[in-house]
Amino acid sequence: MIPVCEPLLDGNEQKYINDCLATNWISSEGTYLKEFERKFSAYCGCKYGVATTNGTTALHLAMAVLRVPKSREVIIPTFTIASCAFAVRYVNAHPVFADCDPVTFNIIPEAIEKLITPKTVAIMAVHLYGHPCDMEAINAIAKAHNLPVIEDAAEAIGSEINGTVVGGFGTVGCFSFYSNKIITTGEGGMLVTNDLELATRARVLRNLAHSKVRFQHEEIGYNFRMTNIQAAMGLAQLENVQRHIDMRRHNAALYTERLRNVQGLTLPPELPGYKNTYWMYSLLAETPEMRDGLTAFLADHDIGTRTFFIPMHRQVMMYDTPGRYPIAESIYKRGFYLPSGTGLTEAEIDTVCNTIKEFMGCV
Ligand SMILES: Cc1ncc(COP(=O)(O)O)c(C=O)c1O
Repeated sequence: MIPVCEPLLDGNEQKYINDCLATNWISSEGTYLKEFERKFSAYCGCKYGVATTNGTTALHLAMAVLRVPKSREVIIPTFTIASCAFAVRYVNAHPVFADCDPVTFNIIPEAIEKLITPKTVAIMAVHLYGHPCDMEAINAIAKAHNLPVIEDAAEAIGSEINGTVVGGFGTVGCFSFYSNKIITTGEGGMLVTNDLELATRARVLRNLAHSKVRFQHEEIGYNFRMTNIQAAMGLAQLENVQRHIDMRRHNAALYTERLRNVQGLTLPPELPGYKNTYWMYSLLAETPEMRDGLTAFLADHDIGTRTFFIPMHRQVMMYDTPGRYPIAESIYKRGFYLPSGTGLTEAEIDTVCNTIKEFMGCV
């Protein structure tokens, strides 16, 4: 079986985790946690990092630190993972959906602008599959309307816009370190920011919102604490982040070389000025039938794939008219991604590409 993604744990992971066990620093205090927060946030060009239990809680925490009020609106892409929409709903606000770009699949800045109303309180940009959003345009809109930006960079660790790593373009950046991410802590996440007040508030809310007096709480908090053991793994992974990115980019280049002439497939982009880390090598088939036939054929040959997100406007608890989102509608039924783990070998890529060509009638 060639899985869609496997983590690569070939650095100091075991050594650092054993150190936690040997020293009894196994819960949410400890030097690895502080180091991981410090080094990862610095990697993203941010002053502060607040580690969380996962990427979904990082987004939830972002809503809470930004004090998104009940019944107000947050503009998010419809084409994204449910975590983004759920985070808005967790604070009893409404996600308002914007359609996506047909090439990068990311939120369209002009669509955001059209959705702004007096009820809008924030904008969420999500860098999908490793390709950054147009943060310059999004930030310009946010600035014009005095709105904070939540940058969900879970799928884009190390991706760049004009040489700057993503995560620090928004008011807050959110990350996931789930096992398929560019670096992993098993489960885990982080909120990064350059705003000391927001970071301080995030730390308080993450830990049950104790006030200055311990066990005295002035608002409702959460237990979103990452453990020192997870952070130990994260720190070891971070030591190798550049190598992981180089390997993913190398694998993407191998895929592109082999698939570029296959009729009926659109390969993932890298627009000028952007660095795609190819978190997942994502493609579009010409038709939904072709996508479904191809992914089934690959599964029969022990090759894992995943189909694209079903857009948020199609979820039962947030349903909105599909006709309002023509691009998301057109891509979600045709999109899928290929095995993309950091440690994927060239021989595995050959197998995947030859199997695709067999299905597509190229060989
Ligand atoms: C774009 C994006 N945001 C948020 C998340 C949520 O992260 P987690 O699974 O760690 O909760 C994911 C998950 O993979 C994601 O892809």
